[in-house]
Amino acid sequence: MDLIIKNGTIITATDTYKADIGVKDGKIMTIGMDIQDDSAKVVDASDKYVLPGAIDAHTHLEMPFGGTTSADSYESGTRAAACGGVTTVFDFVIQRKGQGLIEAVEGRKELCEPQACVDYAFHTAITDLTPKVLDEFQKSVDYGVPSFKLFMVYKKEGLMVNDGVLLTALKKSKEVGALIAVHAENPDLIDIRIEEYLAVGKTSAWYHYLSREEFIEAEAIKRAIHWAKSVNAPLYIVHLACKEGLDEVTKARDEGYKIYAETCPQYLYFTKEVYKREDGRNWVCSPPIKGKESQEALWSGIKRGDISVVATDHCPFQSYEKDWGKDDFTKIPNGCMGIENLYPYLLSEANKGRISLNKVVEVCSTNVAKIFGCSPQKGAISVGSDADIVVYDPNKEFVITKDNMHSDVDYTIWEGVRLRGYPVMTFLRGNLVYDNGKFVGKPGQGQFIKCYGQK
Ligand code: URP
Ligand code: ZN
Ligand code: ZN
Repeated sequence: MDLIIKNGTIITATDTYKADIGVKDGKIMTIGMDIQDDSAKVVDASDKYVLPGAIDAHTHLEMPFGGTTSADSYESGTRAAACGGVTTVFDFVIQRKGQGLIEAVEGRKELCEPQACVDYAFHTAITDLTPKVLDEFQKSVDYGVPSFKLFMVYKKEGLMVNDGVLLTALKKSKEVGALIAVHAENPDLIDIRIEEYLAVGKTSAWYHYLSREEFIEAEAIKRAIHWAKSVNAPLYIVHLACKEGLDEVTKARDEGYKIYAETCPQYLYFTKEVYKREDGRNWVCSPPIKGKESQEALWSGIKRGDISVVATDHCPFQSYEKDWGKDDFTKIPNGCMGIENLYPYLLSEANKGRISLNKVVEVCSTNVAKIFGCSPQKGAISVGSDADIVVYDPNKEFVITKDNMHSDVDYTIWEGVRLRGYPVMTFLRGNLVYDNGKFVGKPGQGQFIKCYGQK
């Protein structure tokens, strides 16, 4: 064996128990009591929890967007991921007009490969659904990218698709075993409000929230679910942030439809009040962070299982870029950071008793692998799975600051947030990549993870 993690308490999505883990050739070889092998490196995890690495289902690394490029490269973003206990990221490939799906994925893969510090998989955001592209759905599933995102917004940015395209994609996805994901907000309502606010000089970040408030997101979620139901296709709603939309998800799931909802840590910790701050633009993302009622509903949705995934939507910009929108909220590049905060924040909330540690593993790791098709290779502490393992100290106190984060961004919205417990080691396929505050991995160490489609 290469590595034995001894005396820890293993936390999976379903179980909590004390055992040792033996690792060979990057895989979990054995789990049991008192594993011995003199040739193996031994890590003592006494008084620590041992968890599967988190899988961030939603990242935008070095993505051209908002008049610039998101500020974390594949290297810095995945470095930060490793330091927050994330061992696989699902990054978004944006299909350019006229571009084929495999061509788009291969372009990003080439960029990512030499830089990736953790494993990576892709979703493709489809912006131009020609008959040729529709025909390529099957190829993309076979290639290992069986999930496609459709933007119901970002009209001016050229990313938006209409309802006809959404329905066509849903139908085809069912045929080939792909999964359609949507960014759900109503673009026409948003545009009308923006015009009204700017006309009377209402330009601060607060009006970003007001132009996209709760029911504007809820309407689009209801519409997307309506279309998915009409063809009985599975649907994944990314970055869901409002109660009314979640209520529709709950209803559809109760009726037996495969509707999955994802929310993000920024929606669980902050409320819309941040947009009243002088630096409120730093929290500008779409959909915007909502009010307390929605936040409480999101936590309840996680507890009852109607929110299947918590992922980051990591899409940071430097503060000078956020400043472009100081006097006009429409010029603020949309997106926030969180890749290094996902597991630590949720585990800290579990440590304080808000949800169980098993639930955190479920929504941040195991469910992601199951929904997007890389289970049981990922998202599990089980024999034969990749040895993607986080050792977590529940007694370590941690205060987030820009300086103890590992990304390339010059601020963090999480500045000053106090956490109870923190990851102390991250192993990627048995290799130590994070050790007590330090990144110890290597760019290029991450591998492409081929996902299978919907079964
Ligand atoms: O504001 C956000 N969420 N930026 C990233 C792109 C997206 O919509 O997911
Ligand atoms: Zn989105
Ligand atoms: Zn996103």
